[in-house]
Amino acid sequence: MNTRENFGSRFTAIMAMAGSAIGLGNIWRFPYVVGQNGGAAFIIVYLLSALFLCIPIFLSESMIGRRTQCSTFGAMDKLVPGSSWKWMGLLTVFTPLIIFSYYSVVGGWSIEYLVKSLSFSFTTPELRAAAASTASEAVVRESLSTMFGGFITSTWMPLVFFTLFIAFNAVVVIGGVKSGIEKFTKVTTPVLFVLILLIMFYSLSLPGSAAGVKYLVKPDFSKLTSSAILSAMGQAFFSLSLGVGCILTYASYIKKEENLLTTGIYTVIFDLVFAMIAGFAIMPAVFAAGIEPGAGPGLIFETLPFIFAKMGVNMPWLSDVVAILFFVTILFAALTSSISMLETGVAYMVDHKKMSRVKATLIIVAGCWTLGLFCSLSYGPLANVHILGNTIFDFCDKMTSNFLMTFGSILFTAFVGWKMSKAEVKDEFTNGGEKKFNLAIFNVVYFMIKYVAPVVITIIFVSNLVL
Ligand code: PFF
Repeated sequence: MNTRENFGSRFTAIMAMAGSAIGLGNIWRFPYVVGQNGGAAFIIVYLLSALFLCIPIFLSESMIGRRTQCSTFGAMDKLVPGSSWKWMGLLTVFTPLIIFSYYSVVGGWSIEYLVKSLSFSFTTPELRAAAASTASEAVVRESLSTMFGGFITSTWMPLVFFTLFIAFNAVVVIGGVKSGIEKFTKVTTPVLFVLILLIMFYSLSLPGSAAGVKYLVKPDFSKLTSSAILSAMGQAFFSLSLGVGCILTYASYIKKEENLLTTGIYTVIFDLVFAMIAGFAIMPAVFAAGIEPGAGPGLIFETLPFIFAKMGVNMPWLSDVVAILFFVTILFAALTSSISMLETGVAYMVDHKKMSRVKATLIIVAGCWTLGLFCSLSYGPLANVHILGNTIFDFCDKMTSNFLMTFGSILFTAFVGWKMSKAEVKDEFTNGGEKKFNLAIFNVVYFMIKYVAPVVITIIFVSNLVL
């Protein structure tokens, strides 16, 4: 156990955790679920649940990880030896790996779109000519939507890029905590912020972007249905990588003297700020181009290229640069998240099964590649295969984000609130009483963890089952 690696500093721990949190959930999912659920009112629920619900869950997970310096399975067993809680640890080993499998499919799409932007596919002379007049804009839309549809429904190309994406993850994770994950995320996470800010400024400068800003800041509570509320909460969970053991595993690499509270709060704030910037980077551009904000999962892959084509009419070089920056951002964001999912499974095999990192990574990657293969094909040749009414991809997505993540979150908070002793929780939370500010707010946080979070999340879980 004493050879276990650590994150070198608080900065790198936060960058790794924020890297896990900031991902496709922020850039790909957040704008389109906001668009489908009525804009600003949805964002308010999202922010409130992130602050009041997600912080206690985040702290519960990180407390278990840092206390035990173990990955999920071993952590539960170490804290309550011999109890059946360890099976919950095992459940959370599988959840991130299921997410990893389908998430990597979208990661593959982002590589393909980066390649397309590098070969100036959105600003070809034909597309620019069609985009130049309003009469032929529909042609551009149609050809971009055919481009996306044609790509994801085909068999081979999505698999090639998906495999590439997974291979890159494997290389980073095999590198280990310090020379792989830390080295990669301490550079890419700050770069992500710079890139998304650049894109936001560009997007806000477009004529007609003000309507998008209004959409994000002016709430329309009539659109806030119960399913919109649930989906706002679900988005907050997904975005913060909660309930799946990733945060627990990363926290197990945080040094004993670090302040868990501030590390957690910084991570949550970075994630929220990033999601908001991504919203302001995408929605104003969507409105500027006169596109329907509720366009769904294709939002960034179909509508943004349309914007690039339109902007390319006058300044193709600028449009190409922005397109490249945009798809680099998506790819980096996806990678920093997916490596945290892979690491959660690998850490289990290394800690518990005493396997080498290389062997553990290769075995897990082989399993996830197989599941991901079916997810990828579920857009094409396997589109007619349904599980409980969903395609394989959607089934994996819904099962994990609507059920397993919430279920994991209930268990983590219940474990810390009801299974660990209060003295132990306090000790970990305050670094043995040393962190005076943490000591002062301990009772409030503990109350949230013990009573509020498990009850509210159980309500969400049951509502997801019923609705
Ligand atoms: N938080 C990531 C995102 O917003 O894209 C997704 C994610 C990462 C979900 C890690 C679950 C996870 F375990």
